[in-house]
Amino acid sequence: MTQILRTRAELRAALANAPRPVGLVPTMGWLHAGHRSLIRQARGENPTVVASIFVNPRQFNRAEDFTKYPRNEDRDVQICATEGVTIVWAPPVEEVYVPGFDTTVSVGAISRPLEGAARPGHFDGVATVVAILFGLVGAEHAYFGQKDAQQVMVIRRMASDLALPTEVIACPTVREPDGLALSSRNVHLTPSERAAAPVIHRALLEAAAQWRMGERSAEVLRETMGRMLATEPKALTEYVSVADSLTLAELEHVDRSALLSLAVRFGPTRLIDNELLEWRA
Ligand code: PAF
Repeated sequence: MTQILRTRAELRAALANAPRPVGLVPTMGWLHAGHRSLIRQARGENPTVVASIFVNPRQFNRAEDFTKYPRNEDRDVQICATEGVTIVWAPPVEEVYVPGFDTTVSVGAISRPLEGAARPGHFDGVATVVAILFGLVGAEHAYFGQKDAQQVMVIRRMASDLALPTEVIACPTVREPDGLALSSRNVHLTPSERAAAPVIHRALLEAAAQWRMGERSAEVLRETMGRMLATEPKALTEYVSVADSLTLAELEHVDRSALLSLAVRFGPTRLIDNELLEWRA
């Protein structure tokens, strides 16, 4: 039976005697097959699984995006129950940011480029809420999607620097059959934008294939992604990046493992995706 809890106290009490290890799946709700795969991995590795459902106001840099974020708690709880989640923690905002709350967790260099540059303050919001969740749940393992590759790196840095005992586990991106990465934001796409959006994955695959064929110029790979995205009139490219996979510094020559990543707007909807190029000496 899945328990639905709302307060910090209820969560602590429920976890006091829970079988270990505990796996945590932090979410903002509107669960899709990507979340299901995180929960399944957590279930396979932990007798106790906690899924949090909290649309975190601090990680939205536009109030409108927070208001428009899709929500359906009943459906989310149903999915969690079907997937065998032990505890759903769905708190009101004042149970996360308790009265007087006055702390921001701000991760350094790794949070500055790419999404950090495009969405000022976003990663402070993410790192702060995830630090609270790690503190409250005290899980051995926490599961995040590789689609948000920079988010995973920011959270790993935060957990390691603050000596939090939770291991951060990145899980593969789940895609629609046409390659579009699953995201809660996909719901905002109009039918024609939805039809156009798989160009994102095609751009990543094309650059990755070029790299596998021996192309080592990062600029050529960026141009390849940019050219592919430009074939789709509904796609407005925000950035394309070929960066060191450990530091996220933009590369000139891809002579180490690299992360291809991009952010593209379709109307008001902003989508991101990435592909890891693994260097084997
Ligand atoms: O990836 C998300 O859904 C959110 O950024 C997270 C990790 C749940 C923090 O609010």
